[in-house]
Amino acid sequence: MAYDVEKVRAQYPALSDGRAWLDGAAGTQVPQSVIDAVSDAYRVGMSNVGGPFESSRRAAGIVAEARAAVADLVGAPDPACVVFGPSMTALTYRFAAVLAAGWAPGDEVVVTQLDHDANVRPWMQYAQRAGAAVRMAELDPATGELPVDQVTSLIGERTKLVAVTAASNVLGTMPDLRAISHRAREAGALTYVDGVQHCPHAHVRLAELGADFYATSAYKWAGPHLAAVVAADPWSLENLYPDKLTPSPDTVPERFELGTSPFAAMAGAVAAVDHLAGLDSDADGGRVERLAVSRCSVQAHEDELAKMLFDGLAALDGVVRYGAPQGPCTPTAFFGLPGKEPSDAAAQLAERGLNVSHGHSYAWEAVHALGIGPKGGVRASLSHYSNQADVQRLLDALGEISG
Ligand SMILES: Cc1ncc(COP(=O)(O)O)c(C=O)c1O
Repeated sequence: MAYDVEKVRAQYPALSDGRAWLDGAAGTQVPQSVIDAVSDAYRVGMSNVGGPFESSRRAAGIVAEARAAVADLVGAPDPACVVFGPSMTALTYRFAAVLAAGWAPGDEVVVTQLDHDANVRPWMQYAQRAGAAVRMAELDPATGELPVDQVTSLIGERTKLVAVTAASNVLGTMPDLRAISHRAREAGALTYVDGVQHCPHAHVRLAELGADFYATSAYKWAGPHLAAVVAADPWSLENLYPDKLTPSPDTVPERFELGTSPFAAMAGAVAAVDHLAGLDSDADGGRVERLAVSRCSVQAHEDELAKMLFDGLAALDGVVRYGAPQGPCTPTAFFGLPGKEPSDAAAQLAERGLNVSHGHSYAWEAVHALGIGPKGGVRASLSHYSNQADVQRLLDALGEISG
């Protein structure tokens, strides 16, 4: 492995401000190559698609490249599996609307307490309208894990959909998706996986996860504000008919996309995937091969730093960590400082040069299941550009303010 985090950091202009950027779970920074790709798209000139001139062809080319890049990133079989949208939340509402059109009273939908509300509420609201029942899988508040049988025991003959996260945005927990999607498939149910916090930290192979739909947001993996839902195959999109304008394309995946595409952001997403593919300087071959090597190197780097973070937090008497997953998890820690509001703790850390999140982070069911309520906790999340100095700064600052 040839992963040089300092070389990686040098590519991120924002990191030069000297702060410790431990808020990647809320959105990562972007490297210069992404900034250039977005600004070049505008500088060179871009028109809407469909025109018989170069700037229009360029826009169409960017859309095609962006689909191919995201398909490579998540291991989708075809770029036509990739549906773009402004955010995971907007896309999930779109898919909830179209999937719920096939639900009837007596049907069931499974959601989980571990999920971000964007993968809970849309399904609940559309299930209610269809008269379908919602089953909520419970997380284990002691470990922050979602036991597989919590989910699988709720899947039955009438289950239409299982909505489950691949990684919690606060606790970092990564449920056993293969087992869940396998059981869902046996029961004839679809699996809609929230990969927003999973994709930045994993080498995603869609087929291995068994997900029918996998949602990802580029701004969590060094890209611009743009999201995608990736279907396991284009055929599953062919049979879905979302609301659309009469003259807008009826082809797949364009049928799912509303209005004019954000071409410059898409150019940025291509640059972000290329950037991720090149993070290990020894990575060789085509983009898929380089992603395989670089994603695994990032994982190794992040695992090492996460251990330093988790061990360091455990050694601090004045810090209570919520959930302590035994199984795989992202490099994310959610914690409280007894007697201190999470917002005050985050503000004190900010004064010391640290960017961390606080609150419920939309993990609405989870903060209630954990018994901490909407005030939530403090979330420190590491990214591929985090280094040991960032983690040490956080541990030192927490030692100071929790003492
Ligand atoms: C796990 C998870 N799911 C969904 C979302 C919502 O993503 P978006 O902002 O693209 O709607 C987030 C945002 O932080 C998230 O962390």
